[in-house]
Amino acid sequence: MRIGVLCSGGDAPGMNAAVRSIVRTAIVCGDEVFGIKHGYEGILNEEFYIAKDGTLVMGLRSVSGLGRLGGTILHSSRSKRFQTAEGVLQAAKILQKYRFNALITIGGNGTLTGASELGKVWDGQIIGLPGTIDNDLLGTDYTIGFATAVDTAVDAVDKLRDTAGSHDLMFFVEVMGRHCGDIALATAIASGAEIVCLPEEPETPEDIVAKLKRIKDTGKASVIAIVAEGCQKGAVEMQRILKEAGNPFDSRAVVLGHILRGGSPIALDRILASELGNFAVSAIVQGETGKMAGKIRGELTLTPFEECISGHKKINNEQLRLLQVVAS
Ligand code: F6P
Repeated sequence: MRIGVLCSGGDAPGMNAAVRSIVRTAIVCGDEVFGIKHGYEGILNEEFYIAKDGTLVMGLRSVSGLGRLGGTILHSSRSKRFQTAEGVLQAAKILQKYRFNALITIGGNGTLTGASELGKVWDGQIIGLPGTIDNDLLGTDYTIGFATAVDTAVDAVDKLRDTAGSHDLMFFVEVMGRHCGDIALATAIASGAEIVCLPEEPETPEDIVAKLKRIKDTGKASVIAIVAEGCQKGAVEMQRILKEAGNPFDSRAVVLGHILRGGSPIALDRILASELGNFAVSAIVQGETGKMAGKIRGELTLTPFEECISGHKKINNEQLRLLQVVAS
């Protein structure tokens, strides 16, 4: 069987570990893997990964040492052309021309939406892997890259704490997460932040300032607020608005942005990526298609693309309550 693999959308730590697992599992199963570069755009451009030894089929050694590498050796993109019906049809023809039997796509919501559209016009099997730092996908408890992104954010906040403590400051720290506050909430719990601003649970500036005044009254001299990118206002804007609303703390804003997408994946992401890559190939061998491989409560699962893209994961209310207690 000829399997194509691509990464699409925002890169996430662990994508390379998934590719490594896919290639090595396929070799065990007697199948061959072709890396497609730059996501769906790479199908349209017929752009394939060529190993150092010049081969197109990804061999055992082509993925050596990939487990610990951040980014994606396959490169990624957000293809505009593939978002059109003509682009999808064209991609199907190209996959047919190169006699691909199956495709594994690694990415987030947009990637799964693309996979779902492609599945309507292409006969081959398609399995998706959840590769995004946002952890916003239905059909898996955790996405590949989320744990590393949170770890990176916590490391940054720990450093900011030193300065916050030295200067009696408040920091507004913005973390990525387009539609979903999962990175923000997990970072807040792990870093001991006092405030979290989530798109799912918006609060008025007056409510936040009242909270900050109560915090000051308990004797705290420095504060950390984690702001999810998906909130209507980013960290810079929040800092200004809260200052005008009477924030009792002198404050600064820091945007962590794309720093969260980089770096070597932590062990949890390497393991998840290895498990899901292996599972995706097994699913293809068993004839599955149109589904995303995920892990729910410790069980490897396959969820139809349509279900995964039908909405965004809800915020974990238990964790939100936990933050309110431990940050008091
Ligand atoms: O989906 C992953 C993500 O990092 C989001 O958190 C963020 O909103 C978006 O990608 C940024 O995308 P880009 O790198 O294209 O600006």
